Amino acid sequence: MNPPLRVRPGRPSDALALRQIRLESLADSPDAYGETYEHCASWSEDAWAKKASEWNFYLAELDGRIVGLARGERHDERPDARYLFAMYVAPSARGGEAATRLVDAVCAWAAADGADALHLYVSSAAARARAFYLKVGFRESGARVAMDRDEGLVCDEMRRDLREFSFRTERVEPSALHDLRRRVLRENDPRVNVENAQDRLASSLHYGGYLGRRVVVSASAFVATSPVTGRHDAYQLRYMATDFDVQGRGLGGVVLSYVLDDLAGRGVAEIWANARVTALNFYTSSGWDVVPDSLFVSAETGTDHVVIHRAVVPVGLEG
Ligand SMILES: CC(C)(COP(=O)(O)OP(=O)(O)OC[C@H]1O[C@@H](n2cnc3c(N)ncnc32)[C@H](O)[C@@H]1OP(=O)(O)O)[C@@H](O)C(=O)NCCC(=O)NCCS
Repeated sequence: MNPPLRVRPGRPSDALALRQIRLESLADSPDAYGETYEHCASWSEDAWAKKASEWNFYLAELDGRIVGLARGERHDERPDARYLFAMYVAPSARGGEAATRLVDAVCAWAAADGADALHLYVSSAAARARAFYLKVGFRESGARVAMDRDEGLVCDEMRRDLREFSFRTERVEPSALHDLRRRVLRENDPRVNVENAQDRLASSLHYGGYLGRRVVVSASAFVATSPVTGRHDAYQLRYMATDFDVQGRGLGGVVLSYVLDDLAGRGVAEIWANARVTALNFYTSSGWDVVPDSLFVSAETGTDHVVIHRAVVPVGLEG
């Protein structure tokens, strides 16, 4: 069996990995990028740490090894447009899924950020890259610029329509959500078991929020006695998580509305949850009540939680 490929948003803690893969790309394909190896190799560890917290970057991992990088950014001179930069896949991983998955990850971010297209510049020296971009749906926009550091290298602008990345929610198998659960809720700790004993019960429900083929929001609902009313047919919301790069754009709220509508359609009357105190506004702003004096520290994560609950009413029918 092939080792699984993972593509994920980079985090500040990935500074060393970012440095290593970016320098590898500049050494491998110097004419594909505006920056040079010499320039970036001179940056200090602190400078890389700053880049890792400021850049919106994505890493491809194969068998625990970083094999690819891409960045999704706003353009200094065109704040309305979103750009793909620093695209790279290590030679050993070319011809596989890594490049497509990295581009998809950036497209998903750009769509969530409100863009209707993703742009890039491809160098005249990068024939394979151009062929790849055409294959995945980019088209030349007609704009062309010379590289600042070498006028002989011309870069064509390409553009990909992002319609296929509009957001949708679906019922999913729990395994589709395990990576998000681990990365967003368990600090990416490989030792933590993110499969839940209730995951596969017939009554358990799992929801994924998708941008294209990338799942960016997870939610699960398990039958669990309500700590508020004692009802045995209540549902507990668990593992509500939105991927780091697309948080704060209302996607979690869209999935939560979908969950409530779906539960209402199944005749469920009450839902409750142990909510992280840091996420409380997300719930209280959409009709959840905090159970008084319910503050506790989660044994699983060591973070402060409170119990919250609400009646299940289809979202469109709320007063
Ligand atoms: C660009 C890159 C990320 C694409 O990833 P990849 O895994 O190589 O992409 P794929 O193999 O899926 O697609 C490449 C396509 O180019 C074709 N190709 C291969 N070598 C080529 C060449 N020398 N000239 C033209 N096309 C070529 C391949 O046949 C393939 O098309 P196909 O699937 O229809 O056969 C990767 O090649 C890379 O990192 N290159 C070096 C850095 C770079 O140029 N970055 C781009 C900066 S804009």
